[in-house]
Amino acid sequence: MARIVGGIGTSHVPAIGAALDNGISGNDYWSPLFAGYARARRWIDACKPDVVIIVYNDHASAFSLELIPTFALGVAETFAPADEGFGPRQVPVAQGHPELAWHLAENLILNEFDMTIANVMPVDHGLTVPLSIMFDQPAAWPVQVIPLCVNVIQYPPPTGKRCLALGRAIASIVASFEQDLRVVVFGTGGMSHQLQGERAGVINQAFDKAFLDRLADDPDGLAEIGHVEYIREAGSEGVELVMWLAMRGALGERAKEVYRHYHVPASNTAAGLVILEPV
Ligand code: DHB
Ligand code: FE
Repeated sequence: MARIVGGIGTSHVPAIGAALDNGISGNDYWSPLFAGYARARRWIDACKPDVVIIVYNDHASAFSLELIPTFALGVAETFAPADEGFGPRQVPVAQGHPELAWHLAENLILNEFDMTIANVMPVDHGLTVPLSIMFDQPAAWPVQVIPLCVNVIQYPPPTGKRCLALGRAIASIVASFEQDLRVVVFGTGGMSHQLQGERAGVINQAFDKAFLDRLADDPDGLAEIGHVEYIREAGSEGVELVMWLAMRGALGERAKEVYRHYHVPASNTAAGLVILEPV
């Protein structure tokens, strides 16, 4: 049977991808951040997942503001990097896992999580940067990828509570898939940041650290954080953290933190990375 063997919460700052793409990840600005990724890469190398489910958000790349699904599940054979204005990143095309993706689609929808089904979905930095963080720049990603896209850019985004419940549903659906697969779930985005308006550049380290402290043992408490509190405490883009709650939900009732890295600043954000394992 398929099994969820780990969860990764990580920022998806586009400049982190650009640092790798432009060969400057070792310079004075970026090296402290990348130094913290080395241990995360060793963990996933040892963990050897077959499939990763990446809960992330699109930034008006695959979906323009004309059409915004709250949750979109990628069931395609492949997912190409999106053109975000400077041409697509020169990273591998992600290979999907249509059988597991359709198993998720069927069981989520029949259990009343009304997913949009995406047969074509270019993937932007919300998905490709976390892959680069974990796998560097290989010729092909060493895992199959199921993208699960969440709207956090147009009000109203789903609540943290709904994302946690979605993750919990994913846990039981993956466990009912008959192939022997090792599955890791990613939640990407955050941590505190604001890219626009008067408070552009806001970072709240106390909020971020408390979120990390509570993620393994108190996801239901974190799920009570509402949108206004995210905006007030973590900036207008801090709401991306709801995707970390989907990841946490997918690990089941009990989880333990095996690694944490937190670094300020990375571009306009506080960059966080956490690795959790189910207990
Ligand atoms: C930045 C961070 C993000 O999460 C994002 O989606 C875009 C930009 C930034 O810090 O520049
Ligand atoms: Fe983002």
